Amino acid sequence: MSNEKAATCLSGKGITKIFGNKKTKTIAVDHVDFEFCKGQVISIVGESGSGKTTITKMILGLTSVTEGEIYFDGKIRDISSHKKKKDYWRGIQAVFQDPFAAFNMFYKIDAVLLDCINMRGGKHLSKEKKTEFMTEACGFVNLKFQELTNKYPFELSGGQMQRLMIARIFLLKPKILIADEPTSMVDACSRATILDMLLKLRDENNMTIVFITHDIGLAYYVSDAVYIMEHGKFVEHGSADEVILNPKETYTKRLISDVPKIYEKWDLTTVG
Ligand SMILES: Nc1ncnc2c1ncn2[C@@H]1O[C@H](COP(=O)(O)OP(=O)(O)OP(=O)(O)O)[C@@H](O)[C@H]1O
Ligand SMILES: [Mg+2]
Repeated sequence: MSNEKAATCLSGKGITKIFGNKKTKTIAVDHVDFEFCKGQVISIVGESGSGKTTITKMILGLTSVTEGEIYFDGKIRDISSHKKKKDYWRGIQAVFQDPFAAFNMFYKIDAVLLDCINMRGGKHLSKEKKTEFMTEACGFVNLKFQELTNKYPFELSGGQMQRLMIARIFLLKPKILIADEPTSMVDACSRATILDMLLKLRDENNMTIVFITHDIGLAYYVSDAVYIMEHGKFVEHGSADEVILNPKETYTKRLISDVPKIYEKWDLTTVG
């Protein structure tokens, strides 16, 4: 990263999510503030149940925000109509923990990818051009388009599905990508490859990546900035070096001590 301060592309003020009613109230996210910069990789790290997925869903507009405001590209986010939501999703996309939940199982692979081309305004393109784009996207994630065109998502392996999700991102080229534990279903080798692909997308398109993980060691390797989440709150944030090499909060220190070999755990030799 250069020393120049990158522009803010997504921020939140006082973001809160309360599930349930008076009797069974869960404060999943509790008045959090954040500011994510263009072209950066930001990790949100916290234990299971700390509110990571909930904040992701609020950012994506998949669940309502109980309190607080989200700002996208300098403006207050407005997703009050179906059209506005669709516009917003042109700029912000996600890859999820469970790729099987991410696809409509009745859509063949080529329909999944065609949808992305259409979303980017490519509806009018010739069939050949569309096939060229889809082939390129599959090539980017080491999948062969010709072998996939007539398949359904459930006919792929978990790892292939995860790569297909990244092929979608390659076509959609969102400004912001949210990756909620995208490597949890694959082995260590594929994990490094998937991270490599995501970081390449960031480098080529100046994409901002918000990376959600339990793993503070992984966060250290991939992030420019780190936010530590405990019981719905961001207890500490800063550059990866500040937060992970000089943690101030006991909770952060504990997360670090849970990863005894922080420097050896991940073989990311292929990650640039
Ligand atoms: N739809 C829901 N209704 C009620 N409570 C919910 C709902 N979704 C999440 N919660 C609660 O909100 C809290 C935060 O959950 P969340 O899924 O955001 O955690 P997380 O940090 O993503 O955990 P993990 O690392 O296990 O994925 C938990 O206490 C959870 O039980
Ligand atoms: Mg989660």
